[in-house]
Amino acid sequence: MATVHVTAPDGGYDIVIEPGLLSRVESWELHGSVVVVTNTTLAPLYGEKLAARLGAALVIVPDGEQYKTLEIVAQLYREFVSVGLDRSGTVIALGGGVVGDTAGFAAATYMRGVRLVQVPTSLLAMVDSSVGGKVGVDLPQGKNLVGAFKQPDIVLVDPSALTTLPQREWRCGLAEVIKHGLLADAALLEMASCSQNDTRAAAELVRRAVQVKVDVVQQDPFEQNIRAHLNLGHTFAHAIEQVSGYRWPHGEAVGVGLLAAARLSYRLNLCGASVPEQVERILKNIHLPHRLDNLDPQALYAAMATDKKWQSGRSRFVLLSEVGKAEIVEHIAPEYIISTLEELL
Ligand SMILES: NC(=O)c1ccc[n+]([C@@H]2O[C@H](COP(=O)([O-])OP(=O)(O)OC[C@H]3O[C@@H](n4cnc5c(N)ncnc54)[C@H](O)[C@@H]3O)[C@@H](O)[C@H]2O)c1
Ligand SMILES: [Zn+2]
Repeated sequence: MATVHVTAPDGGYDIVIEPGLLSRVESWELHGSVVVVTNTTLAPLYGEKLAARLGAALVIVPDGEQYKTLEIVAQLYREFVSVGLDRSGTVIALGGGVVGDTAGFAAATYMRGVRLVQVPTSLLAMVDSSVGGKVGVDLPQGKNLVGAFKQPDIVLVDPSALTTLPQREWRCGLAEVIKHGLLADAALLEMASCSQNDTRAAAELVRRAVQVKVDVVQQDPFEQNIRAHLNLGHTFAHAIEQVSGYRWPHGEAVGVGLLAAARLSYRLNLCGASVPEQVERILKNIHLPHRLDNLDPQALYAAMATDKKWQSGRSRFVLLSEVGKAEIVEHIAPEYIISTLEELL
């Protein structure tokens, strides 16, 4: 078992990582009446058993990013009222990032906020979305446009749940793990080739990847400066998602985005050639895409230029001076960016 403590301005909390945790609920300390929120995929796998063991109500939402909406939040409020959840109660968010963000937002706002326990089941949710206190939903106009900061009471991670995660989702989560490795923990880069069925190795991978995110959000809980480093690869990734009409899953776009960021860093002489070479080798190893599949570099650049983080039209990238050291670079000439993209066709 490993526990990572997070210090947050509005209340610190622990992240407990322990194989088998989902079936050992005797050790869970919960307050008031309890509601487990999960989705239609996870209810039969884990949700029904968990709610029964806890003697808790179970609320099931449909599975998919298209259901990360205010309509589903309204459904949750109605269910919370009907099962009698009051101000002293607890919402357990059991699922990937979509359930965590949606149920977390409902918990942040229902009766001006009730307790929240995050039980992430996807690799992305374990290492990324359940840590840092951001919750929220999408609007038809864009992703994550409504949200709040809501620190959980505790985050409970059972790495054995990763054995049922679809392989493609596992690889997508690995892209974020590699990002964390590039930002602050080179050992993660080699560990990322572990099997999702090797629960001990996965637990250690999750622990180290979580630690990187915790270190960053502790320094910058409200996203004012260093938390921007977590955008490594993401300026490219968001453009890839957008230009592909969201046919590219986020994690696959992040994989190529990390390679693009490393290559751009090398092109600007910030780092040596070994950094992009290492990123490319790892992507190949774990079968994440390492090429852009003919997405048009000009269209990708145009999509990036609309990024809200590019203040007054100045480009802004998180780049690498070495593995473990990121920096923000602004005002890069478009031709450097476009030729980096052309190399990846
Ligand atoms: N709050 C934050 O700070 C933050 C950070 C990063 C991403 N996010 C959000 O997270 C979301 C993406 O999260 P995600 O990648 O987990 O997607 P997801 O929640 O859609 O989960 C992916 C799929 O895997 C299934 N699944 C999850 N765990 C499983 C398991 N153990 N066994 C079998 N199936 C399982 C889910 O039902 C779903 O079909 C996005 O909405 C994104 O905006 C939030
Ligand atoms: Zn991401």
